[in-house]
Amino acid sequence: WPSSARRVGGEIAIGGVGVSELAAEYGTPLYVLDEDVLRARARAWKEAMDEAFSRLRGADVYYAGKAFLCVAVAKAVAHEGLAVDACSEGELRTALAAGVPGSRIGMHGNNKSREEVELALRAEVGHFVVDSLAELEFVDSIARDEGAVASVMLRVTTGVHAGGHEYMSTAVEDQKFGLSIASGAAWQAVEKTVNAPNLRLVGLHSHIGSQILVVEAFEEAARAVLDLRARVHREIGLELREVDFGGGYGIRYTGGDSAPPSPAQLASALASVVASHSAESGIEPPRVSIEPGRNIVGPAGVTLYTVGTVKTVELEDGPRRYVSVDGGMSDNIRPALYDAAYTAALASREGEGRVRSRVVGKHCESGDIVVRDVSLPEDLAAGDILAVPATGAYGRSMASNYNHVPRPGVVAVRGGASRWIVRRETVEDLLALDADYLRRGED
Ligand code: LLP
Repeated sequence: WPSSARRVGGEIAIGGVGVSELAAEYGTPLYVLDEDVLRARARAWKEAMDEAFSRLRGADVYYAGKAFLCVAVAKAVAHEGLAVDACSEGELRTALAAGVPGSRIGMHGNNKSREEVELALRAEVGHFVVDSLAELEFVDSIARDEGAVASVMLRVTTGVHAGGHEYMSTAVEDQKFGLSIASGAAWQAVEKTVNAPNLRLVGLHSHIGSQILVVEAFEEAARAVLDLRARVHREIGLELREVDFGGGYGIRYTGGDSAPPSPAQLASALASVVASHSAESGIEPPRVSIEPGRNIVGPAGVTLYTVGTVKTVELEDGPRRYVSVDGGMSDNIRPALYDAAYTAALASREGEGRVRSRVVGKHCESGDIVVRDVSLPEDLAAGDILAVPATGAYGRSMASNYNHVPRPGVVAVRGGASRWIVRRETVEDLLALDADYLRRGED
């Protein structure tokens, strides 16, 4: 739960605003973002990295926009001194619209379009992260057309297996991201980049997966990246100034989850790997960057739902109560996609008794589950407000219009005040996409 969440007179308040007031003013389902928590977590990463790397060559923290990005969030994290990691035209343009300078944006994506590369070059982004030999040629040719030199970080695959789910592990060999160190593709890419007239090799990048709760995986990947950097130094005589160790820092979703390492623990673990590698290799340490997303925005987010139909299903091991809410897999795909676990609480009042429950959405799909297993008050009823915490990351950013359900808006709360930072989508917005067809009046 956001640190500000507490029961006031029986109902849960977030950022000093009661859920009943939020539901009445903004409707449900509703993403609520505790702005102080977002900023505090961004600042915690910045301070931890600055402190841990103060005696090395400094550090940067890129907020991974893919976790959740809107203009207000881009402004907030930039205000706390973070750069932004974008991986599409939409994310890039959102960061630029927030006034984030190009130099403070890293441009990712394993299949960038010509428009994205041109836009990023014209925005003078700090660097491109490139995953393939083909894309090196692609970026090189567009940079030439633009009369520019593109700064490139090569994303390398370290072979470190980590991540909360198979779909979130991105450093094993058999996956679409990165240039494999083991197969020699990474070395080929280094040579190709240093010989490309319109590319400047500025560093190496690694991202090993997401929702990782152990420090060791990051240390192992960091060593592999630094070994490759040392080889570039030894065999090509080039000292790569930067390395980026990606994101992936996990969070707690339910009370049963183990506590993730703190920013300070991760930052000092990475710093000691960098310091000892520099001492062993005799090479100056690089400037280090990381790209947290979930760990910054995840705990700041809570989704509010209004309870609808409630029904009990008699099972061999006892009854299970199905609590239907007015949202579901269109606003939180993670339980269906990754079997992700969340918890929930009756937020508009205290409630009596406890019953084993399953919170489900309104979609025409049996996998449309929001919270698979949670104990909720026995007297829960239609009209009550349910809150699901830790939904700030990969909720709104992965939301869909399944069953033509509009995506909820995002309300930021802070010090008792609330405001839309992303407005609610409407069915009219969806029908507007059919406007041209409707206008032609065809059958
Ligand atoms: N950097 C790179 C290159 C990434 O690919 C990612 C996430 C991040 C940073 C941020 O990772 P984070 O700190 O947020 O774990 N949709 C999945 C998560 C996929 C993460 C993809 N890459 C989910 O809902 O759990």
